[in-house]
Amino acid sequence: MLTQHLAPDSTGVKTAAQILRAGGLVAFPTETVYGLGADARNSTAVAKIFATKKRPEFNPLIAHLPDQATAENCAVFSDAARALAGAFWPGPLTLVLRLRGDAAISPLVTAGRETIGLRVPDADLARALLQAFGGPVAAPSANLSGRISPTRAGHVRDGLDGRIDAVIDGGACGVGIESTIVDLTGAPRLLRPGGIATEDIEDVLGINLKVETIVDETTPTAPGQLASHYAPSAKVRMNAEAAEAGEVLLGFGPVAGATRNLSEAGDLVEAAANLFADLHALDGTGSSIAVSPIPDTGLGRAINDRLRRAAAPRDQ
Ligand code: TXA
Ligand code: MG
Repeated sequence: MLTQHLAPDSTGVKTAAQILRAGGLVAFPTETVYGLGADARNSTAVAKIFATKKRPEFNPLIAHLPDQATAENCAVFSDAARALAGAFWPGPLTLVLRLRGDAAISPLVTAGRETIGLRVPDADLARALLQAFGGPVAAPSANLSGRISPTRAGHVRDGLDGRIDAVIDGGACGVGIESTIVDLTGAPRLLRPGGIATEDIEDVLGINLKVETIVDETTPTAPGQLASHYAPSAKVRMNAEAAEAGEVLLGFGPVAGATRNLSEAGDLVEAAANLFADLHALDGTGSSIAVSPIPDTGLGRAINDRLRRAAAPRDQ
């Protein structure tokens, strides 16, 4: 298949919406990472996402909506859900809620569950596409399952060129790390730290979030949480004060000898935006990647979560 490279303008958005309506796959930029979109009501289209990404089918997908009103057609909103949506949508927050019986979402999206992950993204192109399409778009990150998430159209092409219908090239993603996922179907639980700081969510809810412990491969709650995920080919070593022989240093703050630096100023927001692009770049060097210590607060929690998964032992 020839992958169309669409411009970030109204013609590109219109073409992308037509491809979605016809049951095709379109990669598009959100504020977090590029998503691989399909019509969430069309099981044939959603099945293509799993096949193309080589994603295990037990791993449910997030449905993307243009606004809270359309999201409320898909799931039951509690007071807590409305409070978080009001505070952080549009934005990098995914809410896991009870699926509505009349939602018309393909069961492949939810992996057969009675819950659904919903997100209203905050990027002009994503919102334009969702509005032009006029329905829910199922979209995981636009990478092969288990690999580093894409924050540039070039990253999408590296992994998926020739296997998807189109990619809209909207440049670099502003936030650069996936959405924070909060499950509100029971006592609020953090399933994945991400682009909204956990502390900010706790402030709105007025409670401390329970953090979901890592689950195994067969009963995943948020299977993005499988231990080895976001894996570059290169080895990753965290909390490194300096590079050793055979390593390149991915710095944070004013460190000497860094091949790339997530943020020389020590800014966690800037570091999150650079994380995946820097890992993609260093992955090509053939060396192992040593990473400076990153404070475990604010977006640092999401960064350390992704680095731990990149550093986790795996079979290859
Ligand atoms: O920022 C993001 O969230 C990006 C952009 C494209 O929106 N998407 C993304 O999707 O990161 P993905 O598929 O790579 O990660 C979604 C995570 C998975 O770990 C999945 O298990 C979890 O969300 N998830 C989705 N629906 C769920 C549900 N009903 N219950 C529990 N976890 C769910
Ligand atoms: Mg992903």
